[in-house]
Amino acid sequence: MTNKKIIIKDGQSNNEIELPVLDSILGPNVVDMRSLEKNLGYLSHDPGFMATSSCESKITFIDGNEGKLWYRGYPIEELAENSNFQETAYLLLNDKLPNNKELEDFSNNISNSYNVDPSIRKIIEVFNKDSHPMAIMTACLSYLSAKYHAEIDIKDKEYRYKSTINLISAVPIMSAWILNYILNKDFQEPKKDKSIAENFVNMSFPDLTKEQKEMSAKAMDIIFLLHADHEQNASTSTVRLSGSSETSPYAAIAAGISTLWGPTHGGANEAVINMLEEIKNSDKGVEYYINQAKDKENSFRLMGFGHRIYKNYDPRAKIIQKIAHEYLDGLSNDNPNKPLFDIAMKLEKYALEDDYFVSRKLYPNVDFYSGIVLKAIGIPQSMYTVVFALARTVGWVTHWNEMIEDKNFRIGRPRQLYTGKNKTSYKDIKDR
Ligand code: SDX
Repeated sequence: MTNKKIIIKDGQSNNEIELPVLDSILGPNVVDMRSLEKNLGYLSHDPGFMATSSCESKITFIDGNEGKLWYRGYPIEELAENSNFQETAYLLLNDKLPNNKELEDFSNNISNSYNVDPSIRKIIEVFNKDSHPMAIMTACLSYLSAKYHAEIDIKDKEYRYKSTINLISAVPIMSAWILNYILNKDFQEPKKDKSIAENFVNMSFPDLTKEQKEMSAKAMDIIFLLHADHEQNASTSTVRLSGSSETSPYAAIAAGISTLWGPTHGGANEAVINMLEEIKNSDKGVEYYINQAKDKENSFRLMGFGHRIYKNYDPRAKIIQKIAHEYLDGLSNDNPNKPLFDIAMKLEKYALEDDYFVSRKLYPNVDFYSGIVLKAIGIPQSMYTVVFALARTVGWVTHWNEMIEDKNFRIGRPRQLYTGKNKTSYKDIKDR
C-alpha cells in the first residue's frame, strides 16, 4: 500500500476527505472508496461497472488498448503456442507453471474424477432433444450441488480443492454427454489416459478417424485454453458474487453458466454463426449488414465485434482466426464452412476500415471466429456456449478460490441510487 491519495472536496459543504490510492502491478491504480460514505456521506455510482474495480486479483490481466492478455503474467500467445489446456489450468489455479511431477499429479487427479455420476444422464434425458444445452448444463450442475451439498465446507482448503477438481473434470464429461444426447448417440465413456480435450472429442465424435480425432482435439485444446479466463467478466463476476454468500461452488458455477449464456457475452459465438448463415442465405451482401449494425434505430449488432475492455483486436480472436485458416484450408472447397469464413473475413475487412467501427474501437472478439472452428469440427451451434463454459469453468473456480482466500473475503452487496417514491403512508382501499 502506498501513501498516494486522492482528495475529494464536497462543493456543498466544503468538507474535504482523502481516499487512499492502491497501486496495481499492471493497469490503472485504484481509489479505495470504502470510507467515502462514512467520511463524506456519498456513494460512488457506476452502472455496468464501467470504471469499478470489484476485487484485488492476481490471475489474469487484459491491456484493452494494446489488445493483450496475460494469464498469471504469461502472454496468451506464448501459452497458446507452447502450453496446453491442462497445464494452463494448473498455472491459473496455482500461479506457477508445473514441473513434470506436478502436472502428472494434477492430470491424475482430474482423470480420477472422470467417473461422473451416471445419474446425470437421467437429468439430461429429462430435456427435449431441442432444449438449449446451456439449460441442460445448468441442471447438471444443480444436480451436483445437491449430490455434494452435505459436504459443503467453503473455508476448508481440501473441500475447495476437491470441488475444483470435480468441476474441472465433470463439466467436459457432461458437455460430451449432452452432445451425445442431442445427436442421438449412446452416452460415451471417458478414458482415464486421455486429456480433457481428447476425451471431449473422442466422446463427442466416436466415429471420427484417428487423424480427425487428433486434429480436432488439438484445435479444441487451444480453444479451451483461450477461453479459460478473462478477468472480472460478467459470468466470472456472477460466480464471485454468488460464491460470496458461501453457497455451493456447483451452484455458483451454475449461476456463471446462466450469465455466460447471454448473446452479449458467451452466447455471442452461437449468434455469430446465426449472423453469418443469415448473410450467406440473403441476397443483401455484407455492406447491407454493416449498415444495419451502424443504424442506431436498428437493434442489429455485428455479433463477435466490440468489447467492454478491448479497444483493439482481441488477441484470442487472432489466434482462433489462424486455427480457422488451418482448419478450413484442409477442407474441400465445397465445405459449407468455407463461405462462412469468407463472409467473416469480408465483414472484418469492412468493419476495420469503416469509421463507425474505427471511431468506437470495435474489433473482432474471441467469439467472432470460434464458432467457425467449432462448426468445422462438427459441433452443433447450440453447443458453442457450452464449449465456452467448459473452458471457463477453470477461470471461474480459480476466481472462486482466490475470493475465499482473500483476507477481505465477505459477501458482496452493491448499493444503489434510489430515485423511487419518497416516504408515504398506506391508504385504505376505500380512500384510493
Ligand atoms: C465476451 O467481458 C469479457 O471479458 C467478455 C469475454 C470473456 O472472455 O469473458 O471477452 C467474452 O463476452 C465477448 C463479447 C461477446 N459479445 C458480442 O460479440 C456481442 C456484440 N458486442 C456488443 O454487444 C458489445 O460490443 C459488447 C456487449 C461486447 C460491449 O458492450 P459495451 O462495452 O457496453 O459497449 P456499448 O454497448 O456501450 O458500445 C459502445 C458503442 C455504442 O454506440 P454509441 O452509443 O457510442 O453510438 O459501440 C456500439 C454501441 O452501439 N457497438 C456496436 C457493437 N458493439 C458496440 N455497434 C454495432 N455492433 C456491435 N457489435
